[in-house]
Amino acid sequence: MIPLAQMAEAVLRTADGRAKTALSREYASAWQAAREAGETPDIGRADPPMHPARPPSPQLLNPRDVPHRKPGSPEGRVALLHAVAHIELNAVDLHWDIIARFAHVKMPMGFYDDWVKAADEESKHFNLMCDCLEEFGSHYGALPAHAGMWRAAEDTVYDFMGRLAVVPMVLEARGLDVTPGMIEVFRRAKATSAVEALELIYSEEVAHVAYGSKWFHFLCGRNDEDPKERFHALVRKYFHGPLKPPFNEEKRAEAGIPPDFYWPLTAKA
Ligand SMILES: [Fe+2]
Ligand SMILES: [Fe+2]
Repeated sequence: MIPLAQMAEAVLRTADGRAKTALSREYASAWQAAREAGETPDIGRADPPMHPARPPSPQLLNPRDVPHRKPGSPEGRVALLHAVAHIELNAVDLHWDIIARFAHVKMPMGFYDDWVKAADEESKHFNLMCDCLEEFGSHYGALPAHAGMWRAAEDTVYDFMGRLAVVPMVLEARGLDVTPGMIEVFRRAKATSAVEALELIYSEEVAHVAYGSKWFHFLCGRNDEDPKERFHALVRKYFHGPLKPPFNEEKRAEAGIPPDFYWPLTAKA
């Protein structure tokens, strides 16, 4: 088995979505099998690209140029699934990128177990969204997608705690806020497979946010820093704009993000 950071780099350098997620899942099961056998695999070092390899389509557009479609229409529902597929593919790369990018930071094995598990789940999420798109006669790449998704990774390329604050604890937590509304859209349309896929995604995303909170708190403890103050400082530094309510306070609490972490970062505060 090659060192984990090199696995991460190989996933980042794979362009096609289905191929990227297949490799991601293959590496995740190799890692998990080794861990279950009681091994402590090598993390190693890697040279991750600044931008992960991506397929030639979708065309990436500035968010304000991505056409808006009514979620009540069949086209709108396809656009919504396409947007989620794009988010999930970014999430696959974000999870492997943190492993490759910060391989020099000494972390307990449990950190890698969590990140590999989350990367595996993001890969499954991407495939589920692709399956739903195909069921609706479309595919990932058929519509334009947001260009700005890698921004958080670029902004925090030298800041491990900044990455944890912005990616799992802000962006993935935002997913917990908006997914129930999305599930409702497909429930009303009686699109059973999309409802089931999104419900699975919703349930697994809680743990991803929790991993972020757990390891952010771990690093604060290691550095003798106040987690709430550090979180506020990092989000203000790296995240562009205020956090937007309404928040899913219940799921955020379940994921270890208390209200005094996010409310002070809203526009009203
Ligand atoms: Fe996901
Ligand atoms: Fe996630």
